[in-house]
Amino acid sequence: MGLLMVFVRVLFLILVMLQMGTNAKIQQKVFDVTRYGAIADGRTNNTKAFERAWSDACKWNGKRTLKAPSNPSVMTSDQWISFQYVNRLAVNGGGSFDGQGASSWKNVIKNSSNFLPIQRENISPTRQPPHRWYLRISRSSIGTGGDCIAILSGSSNIDVSEVFCGPGHGISIGSLRKYAYEKNVWGFSVKNCTFRDTTNGLRIKTYRSSASSVSGINYQNIHMDNVQNPIIIDQQYCPYPPCVMFPSLVQIKDVTYSNIWGTSSTKVAVTFRCSERFPCKNIMLNDINLVHHGPGGSATSQCSYVNGASSGRQMPPSCL
Ligand SMILES: *[C@@H]1O[C@H](CO)[C@@H](O)[C@H](O)[C@H]1NC(C)=O
Ligand SMILES: *[C@@H]1O[C@H](CO)[C@@H](O)[C@H](O)[C@H]1NC(C)=O
Ligand SMILES: *[C@@H]1O[C@H](CO)[C@@H](O)[C@H](O)[C@H]1NC(C)=O
Repeated sequence: MGLLMVFVRVLFLILVMLQMGTNAKIQQKVFDVTRYGAIADGRTNNTKAFERAWSDACKWNGKRTLKAPSNPSVMTSDQWISFQYVNRLAVNGGGSFDGQGASSWKNVIKNSSNFLPIQRENISPTRQPPHRWYLRISRSSIGTGGDCIAILSGSSNIDVSEVFCGPGHGISIGSLRKYAYEKNVWGFSVKNCTFRDTTNGLRIKTYRSSASSVSGINYQNIHMDNVQNPIIIDQQYCPYPPCVMFPSLVQIKDVTYSNIWGTSSTKVAVTFRCSERFPCKNIMLNDINLVHHGPGGSATSQCSYVNGASSGRQMPPSCL
């Protein structure tokens, strides 16, 4: 998909969102691409019109809250905002993304909406200097009924920092599943983030059937506030049973969790449910302090088919 398509899609959604915004108190402005010269005749090249509208929307000095439509049926896909095949994209600034809560999205076909399903292709790898972050998401507040950020097949070198996530399903790698040849995910860092009232915190999920690897993942300085499953690797992910019951072929390795603290709304605060076929390797827990208040007593951790080590404070007691 070309950049134009990305612009078209994002801009269309912005228009929809601003028009559908129900809270009249929020200052609204519509950037109508037809006023920038776009013609919907299927022939006109509208690149310039979209670029100008986009540029003005970015410059507009209002409280930039991007709202998902409250009625998801107006959407033509289950993704609210999506960037694909983009290198060096930065998403930052003081605005906020409001998915209008789970209620808006639960009737969508897949029952969720990924806020930023980032699918990155190495279009010109030779031009990229090594060891650089190619994609950065920072200083953003993301609330959706789905994943706050979903890192999909083929993504690498992505840096997330100072993101507030909630409500939503947390920051997820995966699910990796759909195709026979999923691409690897590597080089993903999440730092200085807060999760509030989300159904997951730091999640890696793979279906049983897919084959690829997830490696070089670094989670650091993460505050959990009333989060279900603050730390979870689930290689038996199966939201819509039945699923293929073979062990997952995804190899997960070199994942570090450092300084993760706060409250877990479920008793099992740390879950590593890895593949019998390719057990998780080199999973590190450093300074974990996740408490659970409520029935069932204090927080616990669960491990299956995982190799790794822990250091520093460990609450719940580490199962590694
Ligand atoms: C449309 O216009 C842009 C720049 O104005 C140009 O880069 C692009 O190649 C054009 N697309 C087509 C299909 O002509
Ligand atoms: C959405 O989720 C509900 C309950 O979890 C389930 O019964 C339903 O089949 C799902 N819908 C689709 C289209 O997957
Ligand atoms: C995270 O926070 C620490 C401590 O405040 C700071 O030193 C560090 O630069 C921050 N890193 C990022 C990526 O925001």
